[in-house]
Amino acid sequence: MKKATKWVIEDAEHKGIYWPSAELKNKAWVSDTAIYAQADKDPPAFWAKLAGEGIDWYRKWRKVYEEKPPHFKWFIGGKLNASYNCLDRHINTWRRNKAAIIWEPETTGARNRVLTYYDLYLQVNKFANVLKSLGVGKGDRVVIYLPMIPEVNIVMLACTRIGAIHSVVFSAFSHQALNDRIKSAEPKIIVTADGYYRDGQPVNLKPNVDEAVAGTNISQAIIIKETGKAIKMIKGRDLWWHELMAQADNYCEPEVMDSEDQMFILYTSGTTGKPKGVIHTTGGYMTQAYWTTKWDFDLHDEDVFWCTADIGWITGHTYNCYGPLACGATMVMYEGAPDYPQPDRWWQIVAKYGVTILYTAPTAIRMFKQYGDEWPAKHDLSTLRILGTVGEPIDRAAWMWFFEHIGGSRCPIIDTWWQTETGGILINALPGIGPHIPTVAGRSFPGIRLEVFDEAGKPLPPGENGYLVGKSPFAPGLLRGIHHDPKRYREQYFVQYGNDIYFTNDGAIKDEMGNFRLTGRVDDVIKVAGHRLTTAEVENAITSHPSVTESAVVPIPDDIKGQVPLAFAKLKAGVQPSRKLAAEIIERVDKTIGPTCRPARVLFVSDLPKTRSGKTLRRVLKNLISNQPIGNITTIANPQSIEELKKSLASEANK
Ligand code: WTA
Repeated sequence: MKKATKWVIEDAEHKGIYWPSAELKNKAWVSDTAIYAQADKDPPAFWAKLAGEGIDWYRKWRKVYEEKPPHFKWFIGGKLNASYNCLDRHINTWRRNKAAIIWEPETTGARNRVLTYYDLYLQVNKFANVLKSLGVGKGDRVVIYLPMIPEVNIVMLACTRIGAIHSVVFSAFSHQALNDRIKSAEPKIIVTADGYYRDGQPVNLKPNVDEAVAGTNISQAIIIKETGKAIKMIKGRDLWWHELMAQADNYCEPEVMDSEDQMFILYTSGTTGKPKGVIHTTGGYMTQAYWTTKWDFDLHDEDVFWCTADIGWITGHTYNCYGPLACGATMVMYEGAPDYPQPDRWWQIVAKYGVTILYTAPTAIRMFKQYGDEWPAKHDLSTLRILGTVGEPIDRAAWMWFFEHIGGSRCPIIDTWWQTETGGILINALPGIGPHIPTVAGRSFPGIRLEVFDEAGKPLPPGENGYLVGKSPFAPGLLRGIHHDPKRYREQYFVQYGNDIYFTNDGAIKDEMGNFRLTGRVDDVIKVAGHRLTTAEVENAITSHPSVTESAVVPIPDDIKGQVPLAFAKLKAGVQPSRKLAAEIIERVDKTIGPTCRPARVLFVSDLPKTRSGKTLRRVLKNLISNQPIGNITTIANPQSIEELKKSLASEANK
């Protein structure tokens, strides 16, 4: 392996703290800490400068920021187009022939593809014309149900080109979950594929689509031929992508969008079982996507950027599409399973394309760590310069393994905190500034105001555990609403501490230097292998089984996935618990939401602890499971349920 530059060095006095080396500082876009104070003096002025420098506007805004909490606007009156910023502005420069997307299929061989910026531009223009010819226009919704193939970027960019609002649904979600999202988003069109490859096998997507679309307002389904397996095409509704594209014109004028026009909706889990459609608008989102990609990852033109997130999640939207493409970067996209055909697949990809920036999730790191050090050791990973993680708190052991075995003890790890709602990263240590400390994410991005509050809304001093909140002016990329549910927007984020404080629903501790350590969700959202879901969604799926009357789901720790759901089920009178029933319940969850949310176990109980108003006390269940003190139970309406639960847990443990 060739000797690589040491981008980060350990603090000799404070072991376990890493600072950028002189090389990294010299190369970095940002290396002077003064930027934080400068930005904080006047965040709108700071963001206005960034928006002007990073994004091309058809017309400049007349006012930078306006708020009437909980509502706010950025770059008022500004006009732009996201697709133009990701494509058109590059094709008139030397980047025209630069690789935009290097696509690695799961099964290697002739299917590999490299799309230059010009290739991508052409395809996006054509598909934008296809959408238009089918009657899709500004403000219409398009649902995208696609695997990790470059067409997913093409469709997203084609939508934003014509001002259509895309809503991507994770391709491993079930037809039921897809149907729920279609019913809420009300698109006329869905874009999908016949299938994709996973673990070496073709997986069919089309039957899911047929079930999900039935009874909705979707008039047209556009199908990409990916696996080539025989599928049933429904006459009048289903259209082949390649046939439509063959007839489409090469140029489609980008729609001039207002800064506050909706750009996309992405469904995510909230505190109830109903997923919420998070709304992002154009100007603020694009500005934050561009600058966080450039500064947080210290992205330069010669870098090869690989974000391993699926496009179905916000990380895929911002760091597998809009951020890197707006920056004119080269990005790697991988179709398949991380350990197919062997546990060194990712490391082989890093070596094959000379990846310099790798952005992934702690759950993947824990999985590779468990596979063993020999797998990354087989490959030359010396091109790597910057590593990143997202999605959940990273534990020290996973951080150190990533640092040593993937980064060769030379690369900084940026632990990035953010949410579907924030649109882009809000917290991490900047590579040219540091410090990089295992389990500590870092400072908030310049011009972003975050604080740790106690229950009553008082800012907490350093070192004390509280709730992470966002203060005015709100981040440019922060959500502007929830689709068809303005009430929920307010109730979910702006009630806890009032109209003018954004409540993240995360716990955090701040240190003397202003670094944040995240301590996990404080609501009923759980993170399974980095995927976000609510206990209520899983509970709804379980109680849809005819033998179940009630259910409660709590997270339990898992070595690889971080957390997994554990289900409690109360059966109808006369129904006996059985292994078969437990298997059926698990199958229900698979079918209703998808296997990502599958409970690790189902425990049958005769009663669940409840408050007097009938709310299930999940906290009590969580404590019982983890052998913690149960805590205050004066609010329990049925204290005998606790004793019964203890008994059934003991008998379960003895099984
Ligand atoms: C959690 C993912 C600790 C957090 C981009 C947040 C993290 C939720 C981190 C949002 C991190 C994300 N450290 N926790 N670096 N990053 N989280 O919407 O609980 O899928 O609220 O967005 O993930 O998950 P979402």
